[in-house]
Amino acid sequence: MRAEKLILVIPITAIMSLGLINSALAQDSKHSFAGIKPELVADFIFSVIEADRTLYARQVVERMQETGTVIASESWMHRNALPLPAQMLLMGGERVEDKGIGLTYRLASLWPIYEKNGPATDFERKGLEAVRKHPETPFSGIVYQGQRPYFKAIYSDKAVSKACIACHNSHVLSPKRDNQLHDVMGGVIISFPLE
Ligand code: HEC
Repeated sequence: MRAEKLILVIPITAIMSLGLINSALAQDSKHSFAGIKPELVADFIFSVIEADRTLYARQVVERMQETGTVIASESWMHRNALPLPAQMLLMGGERVEDKGIGLTYRLASLWPIYEKNGPATDFERKGLEAVRKHPETPFSGIVYQGQRPYFKAIYSDKAVSKACIACHNSHVLSPKRDNQLHDVMGGVIISFPLE
């Protein structure tokens, strides 16, 4: 009898203690997941935006224009044309914002074609200036909207092709007309709530 009881007791205790260890581990890993760095989250989001922007510009707009299939035009909605890459990015950002999950992103510049694409706050102005000087280092920090903390990160947006500078240097509303190839023309501003 005693032996049987012991056999029963040991496995139960073993299971219980395993359970405890497991839940302790789960809590621990939950803790470390909850602590994922916002810098990394912003990097993930930016990498998707950047991939889409580059692929759309190269594989859709440039290819279709080169083959004479269809052009990209700012007034694409009113004619048979593709949206400009900047318009695609901005529309994507609006669509994401409409989801109401707190994530926002847009394309901005210190010399925007449209004022709405200029820096909206001192933080954004500082960030756009910083990425202009150090294009490889995103500028980021915590900003408050009311009581709610948001992580905001700004990544440089460079003139990767001649088309960027040709269009921006000649656009009737452009305040800057001496952009050169590889210059930082602006930045992608990403923001999401921290709680
Ligand atoms: C055919 C013209 C054209 C080309 C090519 C073009 N852009 Fe633009 N870009 C625009 C227009 C128009 C806007 C404003 C879009 C809006 O707000 O609706 C804009 C917006 C921007 C903005 C936001 C600030 C602003 O000026 O309003 C940045 C940054 C930018 N473009 C960078 C680039 C880069 C980098 C490239 C090349 C990869 C590029 N653009 C190619 C026309 C162009």
